[in-house]
Amino acid sequence: MKIGFLYSRKRVEEKLITAALDERGVAYDRFDPRELTFELDGTSPGAYDAFLVRCLSHTHAYYLSRWLEGLGIPTVSPHRTISVCGDKLLTSQALQEAGLPIPRMAVAFSPESGLAAIEALGYPVVLKPLFGSWGRLLAKVNDRDAAEALLEHKSTLGGYLHEVVYIQEYVDKPGRDIRVMVAGDEVVYAIYRQSEHWITNTALGGEPVPCPITDEIVALSVGAAKAMGGGIVAVDLLETRDGKLLVNEVNHTPEFHGARQATDADIAGKIVDYVLAVAEGRPQ
Ligand SMILES: Nc1ncnc2c1ncn2[C@@H]1O[C@H](COP(=O)(O)OP(=O)(O)O)[C@@H](O)[C@H]1O
Ligand SMILES: [Mg+2]
Repeated sequence: MKIGFLYSRKRVEEKLITAALDERGVAYDRFDPRELTFELDGTSPGAYDAFLVRCLSHTHAYYLSRWLEGLGIPTVSPHRTISVCGDKLLTSQALQEAGLPIPRMAVAFSPESGLAAIEALGYPVVLKPLFGSWGRLLAKVNDRDAAEALLEHKSTLGGYLHEVVYIQEYVDKPGRDIRVMVAGDEVVYAIYRQSEHWITNTALGGEPVPCPITDEIVALSVGAAKAMGGGIVAVDLLETRDGKLLVNEVNHTPEFHGARQATDADIAGKIVDYVLAVAEGRPQ
């Protein structure tokens, strides 16, 4: 049994996972995506039973997972999950099709149709780039003046990232959202991310607070993970004023150093155990 461990920067998470691999006496090799090259002639990294993909770059994770799966080496997470999670529109579509509750949303491809779609949803709305994380370039739009300005900026300053206008209703949540990590069909931990700011990411100062794992949280987050294609993901849930939960987005390669303040779960250990189960071909 041998595991490939793919990451570029050794963050706290990769250090903890390395320690968990060592504790279990697992044989593994580390690969740096910045040093990997391959030809499409069957070039293989070697005989591995599974790869844990923890690239910083979504693009690296996307193509390297596809390459490894093409060689018959399972990856955690699988390529499908990485590709769906990496795109907020594909994520919303997969969640909707799985029958999971999501915030109302609309998509447009020009400033004019974007404005019409925003007005149809009603203010406030949230505009998001399809790709990205850590709350980058998220915009809460409270009125038509702001909508017009943002749409003009998007189309003029532009770039590929802004060609699609992704619009979500603003969910008036109670100063927090819920972050749930799922491995296979098991919830690893759930935390609240509490913040004065409407963007509650821990990377932006959101404070991790313990959150009880209810049946509803399990059903929604495991369902969301399955809808992506399985593996190890982190699901963001939003609470509405009338007490419902909505699935906001799903992330592959989640960070979890902040969460450790608010949960006793052995997160790195669970990640490694899941990778070992995949490597052994045990059903998940
Ligand atoms: N529609 C929304 N209504 C209310 N808050 C939102 C909404 N969308 C995002 N947020 C807040 O912004 C944070 C980041 O948004 P998210 O869609 O998860 O993007 P990212 O990929 O950057 O994490 C969420 O964790 C939540 O606190
Ligand atoms: Mg998020």
